[in-house]
Amino acid sequence: VIENNVPIRRKVWTKNDVCHSLPHRIPNAHKGTHGKGLLIGGSKSMPGAVTLAASACLNSGAGLLTTAAPSSVMPVVHSQLPETMGMPLPEQGGAIAGDLMGMDFNTNPYQAVAAGPGLGREKTIKPLVRRLLTEVNAPLLLDADALYFLPELEQEVKARNAPLIITPHPGEMSRLTGEKTEKINNQRFTLSREFAMEKGCYLVLKGPHTIVTTPDGDQFINTSGNEALARGGTGDVLTGLILGLLLQGKETSASVMNAVYLHGLTADIAVKKSRQTYAMTASDFIHLLPLAFRSII
Ligand code: APR
Ligand code: MG
Repeated sequence: VIENNVPIRRKVWTKNDVCHSLPHRIPNAHKGTHGKGLLIGGSKSMPGAVTLAASACLNSGAGLLTTAAPSSVMPVVHSQLPETMGMPLPEQGGAIAGDLMGMDFNTNPYQAVAAGPGLGREKTIKPLVRRLLTEVNAPLLLDADALYFLPELEQEVKARNAPLIITPHPGEMSRLTGEKTEKINNQRFTLSREFAMEKGCYLVLKGPHTIVTTPDGDQFINTSGNEALARGGTGDVLTGLILGLLLQGKETSASVMNAVYLHGLTADIAVKKSRQTYAMTASDFIHLLPLAFRSII
């Protein structure tokens, strides 16, 4: 494809690509081999979103996960997931109060950080996202409510050196670009590419055939997934999966595409097994991750 006289590199991401770029598992590994990650999210009215993301991350091969959430939300997460470490945070209005308890990202490094699921849109969230953009020197994934304040943090986005990955659905993309959702859906490739190149980020524009665009403008198109994913919570599952694969240290675009592919594959397996799409939940897709990985390797 040629646009403005510049060839555009676009590639359909296949099972074969996933197979060749999934992180290897080695017999003498220890948990540090598979990465240490931080997930930030949750609020009084949305304790489930961050729990789903944490569960997906823990089912992706990640070594160690810390989940940071308002202190009242932490018991919900832990009751579902004894495997995650907890970082209970001060809260305001049911959401994280913002200061991450003076955490220093230089002395306490994570291989990747994700924020967004169930975070809410309290005023305190903006300084939190600003701090992450400025201080996290590892790949940073922003989703859902963490994207809400992004239009007001343009300078911080542009000043980042380490990778920034954002995962909007078309409605969130509409807010990020100021364009109508209908236009986003009609010009997914062009608008994705313009945005990713201008902001210097990896953009995951979700929906049927999710498109991943790199800061250089290269585009990857997903082939897995189906309408069974059109239900609340599946976006949170994707966030956890992307975090988990980023932690395992492969190239950013491959990690992101592999997560998108495996996420869709769980839905394809779900439909094949149950031959209907009414009775299933986002958790069901997490429970199918073992079969999705098994069908790749
Ligand atoms: N075909 C294939 N994949 C689909 C389809 C479809 N018809 N519909 C949805 N998906 C996939 C998307 O590609 C994406 O990976 O399901 C996932 C849905 O993600 P989100 O839209 O982020 O959904 P989720 O976060 O679970 O729930 C919506 O998120 O951002 C907030 O405000 C938003 O409260 C809302 C919540
Ligand atoms: Mg979402």
